[in-house]
Amino acid sequence: MEFSIKTLSPETAKAGCVVLGIHANQELTPAARRADQASKGALKKALADLPAKAGSSLLLRSLPGVAAERVLLVSLGEHGEFGDSAFRDAVRGAALALKELGAKDAAFFLVDIKVGSRHVSWNLRHAVLGLRDAFYRFDQMKSQKKAPAAALQHVVFPLSSKTELQKALAEAAATADGIELAKTLGNLPPNICTPAYLADAASKLARQYKLGVEVLERADMQKLGMGALLAVANASHNPPKLIVLRYNGAAKGRKPIALVGKGITFDTGGISLKPAAEMDEMKFDMSGAGSVLGAIRALAGMKAPVNVVGVIPTCENMPGGHATRPGDVVTTLSGQTVEILNTDAEGRLILCDALTYAARFEPEKVIDIATLTGACVVALGHVASGLFANDEALAAELLAAADDARDPVWRMPLWEEYQEGLRSNFADFANIGGRPGGAITAACYLARFTRKMRWAHLDVAGTAWKSGREKGSTGRPVPLLVRFALRHAGRK
Ligand code: BES
Ligand code: MN
Ligand code: ZN
Repeated sequence: MEFSIKTLSPETAKAGCVVLGIHANQELTPAARRADQASKGALKKALADLPAKAGSSLLLRSLPGVAAERVLLVSLGEHGEFGDSAFRDAVRGAALALKELGAKDAAFFLVDIKVGSRHVSWNLRHAVLGLRDAFYRFDQMKSQKKAPAAALQHVVFPLSSKTELQKALAEAAATADGIELAKTLGNLPPNICTPAYLADAASKLARQYKLGVEVLERADMQKLGMGALLAVANASHNPPKLIVLRYNGAAKGRKPIALVGKGITFDTGGISLKPAAEMDEMKFDMSGAGSVLGAIRALAGMKAPVNVVGVIPTCENMPGGHATRPGDVVTTLSGQTVEILNTDAEGRLILCDALTYAARFEPEKVIDIATLTGACVVALGHVASGLFANDEALAAELLAAADDARDPVWRMPLWEEYQEGLRSNFADFANIGGRPGGAITAACYLARFTRKMRWAHLDVAGTAWKSGREKGSTGRPVPLLVRFALRHAGRK
């Protein structure tokens, strides 16, 4: 899908479809008013059939005085309630209607509307992401692919072309590429998307965008002493990998942001085996890893002026004769010992060694991303990701980026009182607390490995994928990570 910016009038635009916004109570936006005047009121007459709900649409054909054959009217909802959500609903509604129509190109006038206090570049970014999201599909594993007839090839945004907007457009398109990579890696089945597959995906990105890449093998991990990561990988025939992917878009001397992503390509629970129902969804347990690859792809694709190092511990969590037993004690890369009381709390085991390893890149800030706990889903549902941080400024930056990206997070506590749950009679500490506050004790475990760094943890267990009929990866939190990195680099 190509995007461009060009000054256009709705009545003269030569596009397959002109998309116009209408508020409830038949309140026309300036572009819609122009088209209405050109059609001598024909547009307004048709409005009675447009439902008020934001995102509803109505297609008009051969409107007199309007050059384009098709005009798509999209409801923006009540004027008084028009804001971020209504705008995004309108974009999504328009995108789905364009898909249904099979339109090849469109002039998308929705971006030329004031959305609360948002800058027009925000509209542009969210229009691009909404359109790309609606047209994403994953049919790689189907033997019969649907004909790609409904491909929207070109979208023109009718704005005056300023460098700032061109830049926002390029950033948004690259972000969409990154989100799609994360989605596809998540959606791939666990017999294909193995640790080796993720390592290959990283190497491909490295070739395509000239990034640095290094993959540590099991023997390297043994030499280093990554006892926790190795304990999780013990019973799997697919060997573990530790992927390091570096993008340097800023000056050499600038410390990188480290992104550490949980890459469990399938989580059976190990000896603490999970129940059978919905276990297939544990293929999404590498979503943190996917989001790191996606964010790096986005930032490299837009040549963002920032240095990033991605660190991805990846393996399967399998039962078997070599599997780690509940009660086993292992020594982590940090030197601290852990009593593994539950082998299903494996994410924190691979992450703790990866976080310790990440310190060698002397990162300015470290963010780990993980589908870490079912407890986080209980706490926050599928709307907000859990945010934990040992640094107030970093937490504030992530909250602001999340708002900007509309990829919400909710701050959770990391208080010392919660550390008590992890006590062990046999090792320095255990890998689980009790059931209460499960997302918090998991974060507290990670905090024991990041004391010397500015660190934040995103628990995306409830937000990285959808279940049910719409089952599939969401690509979250790539939008947040990209916004965070860009804001860090001084882009607004
Ligand atoms: N990958 C799961 C977390 C998860 C569960 C994500 C359900 C999304 C939906 C993680 O490895 C896990 O199994 N966590 C355990 C921890 C427990 C044993 C302390 C959990 O949440 O049950
Ligand atoms: Mn688990
Ligand atoms: Zn897991």
